[in-house]
Amino acid sequence: MTTATLSSGARMVHIDWGDGTDSRYPYIWLRDNDPSGFHPQTKERAFDLTSIPLDITASDVRLDDNKMTVRWQADDHVTVFDLAWLHAHQPGKLADDPATTTAQQVWRADLGASGIPRANWAEVMESDNSLRDWMTQTRRFGLAIVQGIPDSTEAGVKVAERIGFLRRTNFGTVFEVESKPDPNNLAYTSVALPLHTDLPNQEIAPGFQFLHCLANEATGGGSMFCDGFAIAEELRKTDPAAFDLLASTSVPFRFHDTDCDIRTRKRVIETDENGTVFEICFNAHIADVLDIAPEKMDAYYRAYRTFMQMSRDAAFEVTLKLQAGEMVVFDNRRVLHGRQAFDPSTGYRHLHGCYVDRGEFDSRLRILAR
Ligand code: OGA
Ligand code: ZN
Repeated sequence: MTTATLSSGARMVHIDWGDGTDSRYPYIWLRDNDPSGFHPQTKERAFDLTSIPLDITASDVRLDDNKMTVRWQADDHVTVFDLAWLHAHQPGKLADDPATTTAQQVWRADLGASGIPRANWAEVMESDNSLRDWMTQTRRFGLAIVQGIPDSTEAGVKVAERIGFLRRTNFGTVFEVESKPDPNNLAYTSVALPLHTDLPNQEIAPGFQFLHCLANEATGGGSMFCDGFAIAEELRKTDPAAFDLLASTSVPFRFHDTDCDIRTRKRVIETDENGTVFEICFNAHIADVLDIAPEKMDAYYRAYRTFMQMSRDAAFEVTLKLQAGEMVVFDNRRVLHGRQAFDPSTGYRHLHGCYVDRGEFDSRLRILAR
């Protein structure tokens, strides 16, 4: 970086880093990011963008001692940047993010139950390094297991709380998944649950889901998982028209009971401005009455059914039967989960659940990386 050279033009500063790379910094951007414009304690931007002209220019720009100094034409104000900071913040490039350093890895059936990352409860609870390593793997695969959990509902929740605030929903801050006499959700019965994501009817669906198994003694009750990102990418390749339809058509989701009526619209495949899939919203039980134009229905149903069939295709599915003392943790906006029916007359089945949103999870990873 010491070999960097600088040239200033009419609208921006150009830095040649001397290693074959270069970057450009528009004046308006430089003034907006003047380090003195940030509150020293809160680190928030205190600078008011409307206090300077949009076409602001510099009267002098120079480079010495790994600092770049800019004198502004409008008011003679002087801004000093660390060159290392400028190198780390090059317009047009995403800044490093410790939460996303380890790339997400899509998986199919060949991951197998034995390929799901595992961690021991005591280690994750006691050691920040173990927590960081396990969270990194959880983010990478969107699916992990914690084992060796003491036999209390609080013990599983403690892992979630070690990561961040729990996400509260209409089902509570924590929820009991067991066969109940007066269920308000199919999960609270003993029927099979085909692969789904939880609560796409919420404006933002819960991020990471924690299901701590306290008992799984009934016949049946096995768990299924599939990577929704893997299905979406396969669909993009094999049936691009279906992919485009699911990624561009918002459909209604709704959950309602005596206390709430929670609705929103989502695309089954949510993509960002680069076309990268960042979320899957798939739950046939809370898909509301489809309201798209009748002439679009045939094509939509064809695409939607194809996605549904793929979610149940053994090629994408990992199955296991959770044992008491194990907790499965998965990115509910990515990985679909389901369970086989079970027979409550043959034994007790009890999972204790909670959620922690993606933002909380990533924040914790960044703090652990410090
Ligand atoms: C749920 C759910 C899975 C299970 O509660 O949302 O999918 O194994 N439960 O009971
Ligand atoms: Zn569920």
